[in-house]
Amino acid sequence: MGSFSFLAIFVVVILRLFLCRTTFAVVYYIRPSDFLRDNNTTLVSREGRFELGFFTPNTSSNNRYLGIWYKNISVQTVVWVANRCKPINDSSGFLTINNSGNLVLFSGQDNNKNKVVWSTNSSSKQAMKPLVQLLENGNLVMRDENDENTENYLWESFDHPTDTIMPGMKLGCDLKRGLNRRLSSWKSWDDPCNGDFTFGIELDESQDTYPQLITRKGSSKFYRTGPWNGIGFSGSPSLTMDPLLKHMFVYNDFEVYYMYNIKDNSVISRIVMNQTTSVREIMMWIESDRAWWRYGSVPSEKCDKYGICGANSECVVTNNQVCQCLKGFFKPKSEEENRSEGGCVRNKPLLSCGDRVKDEFIRVSGLKMPDTQYTWVNKSMNLEECRAKCLSNCSCMAYTNSDIRGNGSGCLVWFGDLYDIQGFQSSGQGLYIRISASETDNYEKTRTNHK
Ligand SMILES: *[C@@H]1O[C@H](CO)[C@@H](O)[C@H](O)[C@H]1NC(C)=O
Ligand SMILES: *[C@@H]1O[C@H](CO)[C@@H](O)[C@H](O)[C@H]1NC(C)=O
Ligand SMILES: *[C@@H]1O[C@H](CO)[C@@H](O)[C@H](O)[C@H]1NC(C)=O
Ligand SMILES: *[C@@H]1O[C@H](CO)[C@@H](O)[C@H](O)[C@H]1NC(C)=O
Ligand SMILES: *[C@@H]1O[C@H](CO)[C@@H](O)[C@H](O)[C@H]1NC(C)=O
Ligand SMILES: *[C@@H]1O[C@H](CO)[C@@H](O)[C@H](O)[C@H]1NC(C)=O
Repeated sequence: MGSFSFLAIFVVVILRLFLCRTTFAVVYYIRPSDFLRDNNTTLVSREGRFELGFFTPNTSSNNRYLGIWYKNISVQTVVWVANRCKPINDSSGFLTINNSGNLVLFSGQDNNKNKVVWSTNSSSKQAMKPLVQLLENGNLVMRDENDENTENYLWESFDHPTDTIMPGMKLGCDLKRGLNRRLSSWKSWDDPCNGDFTFGIELDESQDTYPQLITRKGSSKFYRTGPWNGIGFSGSPSLTMDPLLKHMFVYNDFEVYYMYNIKDNSVISRIVMNQTTSVREIMMWIESDRAWWRYGSVPSEKCDKYGICGANSECVVTNNQVCQCLKGFFKPKSEEENRSEGGCVRNKPLLSCGDRVKDEFIRVSGLKMPDTQYTWVNKSMNLEECRAKCLSNCSCMAYTNSDIRGNGSGCLVWFGDLYDIQGFQSSGQGLYIRISASETDNYEKTRTNHK
């Protein structure tokens, strides 16, 4: 008897030591009475792909952040951070659900007077029985346990991305909720606060312009994928052929977003904004190397950088002189200046604007479609109607089908000068550029005929 109780105490002591030292409790759910404490508990997805807990990016500082990382790979890779710009400077942080049904991160400094560091904001939709869970795709979600629809999320981390998107995540706008999900890089490798390298969908308030995906460095445009044409992004033809990833762009009355999926679900991949190198990179985990491999990145070549060439010119990376005025009907704005610097103007101005009979269009293919900031779109018009639309407005410069699938559909027109055009070897999309009828030499040769 004596030796048995001695043994029992011994086991308990050993177990205690073991638990205190090295073992974190792992939980799968957070309910209102639960606490996820720093140095003690993590939340794990059912099959163990992702983990939510506290971390320190730079071990020489005390800064603690609440974040999500992959649980099943050996290099800690954080994909989401709650308190990006508000680190907790000790290990007093804890996460819980408060009385109004929000997920709240507290720090317990100042003699146990807890301070709110970060909080969700879903007070409008309060749950009877709030339940927080980390899904297998890395999405941290809150739902109502009483709700039979387990996908009716009251809040989800995918709506508030940091610097990373993963398969199945939407980047872009939920128009009904007025939400725009955008990425911003970490400020530096050890500071998850927002850097100035950002990526997202840009949509005009009027929603008349064609939405586009833009990477910015500070407030300046840095890289465009080119507008989606139903098959791919006109500036990223390689994505259309991607053997491993499927890229999507959804544009309807309710949502405008980009999303990618991976064809083989066992492959781990992410897209991340890198402030240091100023690229957006697609990374894949290579288990045999225990390392991330850069599958692709943009911008990747000189002509990818926004606006390398001036207005109405195209950037062709294989040419000695990378910038060239758009085919045939444009010339450098200033003879002394280099084309790349000054941009281009029409050989002959549109003298007869307003006289519909006299202006013409030439079809140019193999281009990355111009910046769509000053555009107008109608997804149900055909090309003939689109031409008429463009002719009816003197500042309309060019038009194309917004969707090139099949015989093409939709109408996208540009106003004013055309910017950030790239010349590729091949691309199915034709851009119809307005020229003056006084270009008589070429008039008949290039006359457009849609029939
Ligand atoms: C941690 O932060 C609290 C509140 O911001 C502050 O009062 C305290 O001095 C800080 N502690 C250290 C070690 O920096
Ligand atoms: C929560 O959302 C409401 C409505 O969108 C807003 O008015 C409020 O300022 C938000 N609160 C916080 C803490 O973000
Ligand atoms: C950015 O790129 C550099 C160089 O490739 C790399 O060392 C660093 O880890 C990257 N940062 C992120 C946040 O991926
Ligand atoms: C202009 O272009 C010419 C020919 O390509 C080149 O030699 C020259 O250095 C350029 N000038 C400037 C100011 O970039
Ligand atoms: C778009 O085009 C269709 C077909 O021509 C037309 O019926 C519709 O009114 C247009 N929509 C807008 C907003 O102009
Ligand atoms: C031509 O289009 C521009 C840009 O959308 C607009 O501001 C202008 O009012 C239009 N002009 C006519 C005559 O419709």
